[in-house]
Amino acid sequence: MRHILSCEQFSQSDLAGLFDLADEIRANPRHYADSLSDKVVATLFYEPSTRTRLSFEAAIVRLGGKNISTENAREMSSAIKGESLADTIRVVHGYADAIIMRHQDNNSANEAAAASRVPIINAGAGSGEHPTQALLDIYTIKRRKGGIDNISVAILGDLLYGRTIHSLIKLLSLYKNVEIFGLSIPSLPLPAEYVNYMADRGIIYQPVKSLADLPPNLDIIYQTRTQLERFATQGLAAEEIILNNAEMARFPPDTLVLHPLPRNREIAPEFDTDPRAAYFDQSENGMYIRMALLHKILTK
Ligand code: NCD
Repeated sequence: MRHILSCEQFSQSDLAGLFDLADEIRANPRHYADSLSDKVVATLFYEPSTRTRLSFEAAIVRLGGKNISTENAREMSSAIKGESLADTIRVVHGYADAIIMRHQDNNSANEAAAASRVPIINAGAGSGEHPTQALLDIYTIKRRKGGIDNISVAILGDLLYGRTIHSLIKLLSLYKNVEIFGLSIPSLPLPAEYVNYMADRGIIYQPVKSLADLPPNLDIIYQTRTQLERFATQGLAAEEIILNNAEMARFPPDTLVLHPLPRNREIAPEFDTDPRAAYFDQSENGMYIRMALLHKILTK
């Protein structure tokens, strides 16, 4: 059984294998149309989701599997009656061959895995990690740039609560000669554990104070939404970092802009038609990477 709990569990060759399989599935979808034909996969979401849940469910269906789902488990499952997560998992693992779960607690995926006899896939755990998002982020970079070694990446926005950022840092740390610039909303800085994680693995990390401090020859700008649901937000508006056509004018034609979505104001819609805007491509890539992941976990 292989749970997907944290990006720390992946090696560079795991990712290469997964990316090749995602490309292969994309090129030959009919070849994989029955690969999960005898499987039932549960999607158990305690927090809102559009892309993650629907791309997982599309992946299940496109691989010929069946899906059972609760999209608002915080209110619509027995959690509201006081059932513990472990008890819920001990029930659902009797119904499904794998459980894809999003939950508000940072340790939820580990807790679920400890109780489960079927694979648990972490689809976002509090402000901790969101490993499958980072897989699709790196897959997108690989497809658009050809590789991940020797790249420079700026991470922007809510670096404190952004779980996609935390997972992305762990995957980027697998590659050679990666340089990361951090531009956080001033009151939402990157936690020390991630700064140390990069230092321990030879990643060059440089915090900067404004968009103007970013070097122009960046490969990737990874923008994020402020995770307003996780803290009291008074006075934040003044701290916003907004990417628009004027700000992007200084970057070359090959600086890609990624965002896990959903966005609020942090990327102006006027930028969407710029060829450097990769975020909708990124969300589509998510379905293929999730197909590859499910195929790997659930078939021999
Ligand atoms: C992200 C999440 O849920 O962490 N969304 C996603 O899965 N694409 C980012 C966010 O909500 O800001």
